[in-house]
Amino acid sequence: MGLKIAIGGKGGVGKTTVCAIWSQLLVDDGFDVLAIDADPNTNLAMAFGLSPDKVPEQLINMKELIAERTGTDRASVGAYFKLNPEVSDIPEKYWIRVPIFQKDIPPDSVDNDTKRDLEVRNEKSSKTVKLLVLGGITQAGSGCACPDGAFLKALLTYAILQRQEIVMIDLAAGVEFMGRASIQGIDALVVITEPGARSIETANRIASMAKELGIKHTAAVINKITDKAQLEKIKAKLTIPIAGSILYNLAVQEADLNGISVFEASPILVQELRKAKDNLQNMISD
Ligand SMILES: Nc1ncnc2c1ncn2[C@@H]1O[C@H](COP(=O)(O)OP(=O)(O)OP(=O)(O)O)[C@@H](O)[C@H]1O
Ligand SMILES: [Mg+2]
Repeated sequence: MGLKIAIGGKGGVGKTTVCAIWSQLLVDDGFDVLAIDADPNTNLAMAFGLSPDKVPEQLINMKELIAERTGTDRASVGAYFKLNPEVSDIPEKYWIRVPIFQKDIPPDSVDNDTKRDLEVRNEKSSKTVKLLVLGGITQAGSGCACPDGAFLKALLTYAILQRQEIVMIDLAAGVEFMGRASIQGIDALVVITEPGARSIETANRIASMAKELGIKHTAAVINKITDKAQLEKIKAKLTIPIAGSILYNLAVQEADLNGISVFEASPILVQELRKAKDNLQNMISD
């Protein structure tokens, strides 16, 4: 069975960026990867470089589907709904395939080096990440005992416990999702932090909650580092094993602004994240 990895952390630290690039790297390595956007504020699709018009609808907004699966489509059923709706056919029906390289291939070129580069790119662009956009429940309290909550929880549980491919989950910001326990059974929870006390505090809290939930591995990725001294300070404050650190990188913001995939925009970031991913895989297999 492929690894099941969820990515959490405070708002804006880089969860979606890491989730997207790790998914793309794993596909590039030849793995079959299902990337799940489980953040109510969905934007994993855009990190893959999809234009807004190509972003799929969130499953949480498909009220008829949820009603049908949870048995709430008949008025007579009233307040009762299925806690374990059937969802095993949902991923195939609703995922979209996103090429890991998306630039248009220019017409035939003359020199061989360029031609070989293009062939490599061509081959890579035929490799795709499967993207499923769940969305999330936004109400305060978030322990929603409602059909929507049951549907989302069933889907995540199915993805984590039954799917054969690697599953990467982009979680909502903060610690609230931990209370819903819908990520039980994952192989690793990766928390992203940035140079800031609040993001470190959030990371440590998520890690200790993960321990209580019995999640096997928790690791941190320290993002947006500007110098070595800063990195040492953060390391001293984190109570979690560190899988890697990533430099602050203007190309990432530039890609974000231009709506292109970070995977294409910043080879340095991709390299740093490859290292972090390899470390994480080693931590898990030890
Ligand atoms: N290493 C980096 N250097 C510079 N900017 C970065 C870096 N990593 C991420 N960013 C930028 O930080 C912003 C937040 O990144 P991202 O969306 O990945 O974070 P997030 O944790 O998923 O946020 P949210 O909590 O809103 O879901 C984006 O504009 C992104 O381009
Ligand atoms: Mg995000």
